[in-house]
Amino acid sequence: MKYHLKQEYDKYTAEDFLVWKLLFQKQQEILAERAAVDFIKGMQLMQFEADCIANFEHVNAVLASTTGWSIEVVPGLIPDKDFFELLSLKRFPSSTWLRPLKSLDYLEEPDMFHDCFAHMPLLTEPFFVDYLQALSRIALKYIDDALAIELVGRIYWFTVEFGLIREPEGLKIYGAGILSSSGESIYCLGQEANRRPFDVKEILEKHYYKNDFQDRYYVINSYKELFEAIPQIEYLIEQAIHLVPHEKNMNVGALDIELAGR
Ligand SMILES: [Fe+2]
Repeated sequence: MKYHLKQEYDKYTAEDFLVWKLLFQKQQEILAERAAVDFIKGMQLMQFEADCIANFEHVNAVLASTTGWSIEVVPGLIPDKDFFELLSLKRFPSSTWLRPLKSLDYLEEPDMFHDCFAHMPLLTEPFFVDYLQALSRIALKYIDDALAIELVGRIYWFTVEFGLIREPEGLKIYGAGILSSSGESIYCLGQEANRRPFDVKEILEKHYYKNDFQDRYYVINSYKELFEAIPQIEYLIEQAIHLVPHEKNMNVGALDIELAGR
């Protein structure tokens, strides 16, 4: 499975460049003190800058020389099976289009500012990418079971998209859903946000909301901690699909479940 698409850099318009520039400048300022150190390092390696929409050839060269991952250009959201197959092959899906200027702060579907700016820098971190790949293997093992995929999705959501990490300098953001949102980048580290220690069982048990700031954020101490949680994630998902009555293709998105496990 491959999409056979590529970034057509010379087709970007003046509006695209302006959108990238405005989003980049705003996030660069907000994230300077808030983003995880490995994200900032990855951004520097990829030489992201305000005046220049990220060039996938350059991003791929950096990924090749660090973790061996690469970008797979996709048209937009893709089916779960394609998504996890790509991750298992060390390819991270990204769109190439940018949101229009008139909806700078609102996105119905992730554009390349989210997919590329917010996701690519951390793909230079070895434990983080090993975690992603291992998570994709669990998903593929149970790809036809809607409950299992929902549960993998919860873990992905509260780590890869909305995760926080405790660093020597303080709490920082590594989740791409936060990193591409100026409002949530500020909110998640503020006094009102509900921050909790990373807890696989708790994440698996509760459903989440997509259209607002998160009602909770989970804090890891290292990317190694994520990777080392994989056996527990797999065990608890296996337990859930055997214990929770469900049809293989039923809608389980809003289901709160109870797990006994470790
Ligand atoms: Fe994302």
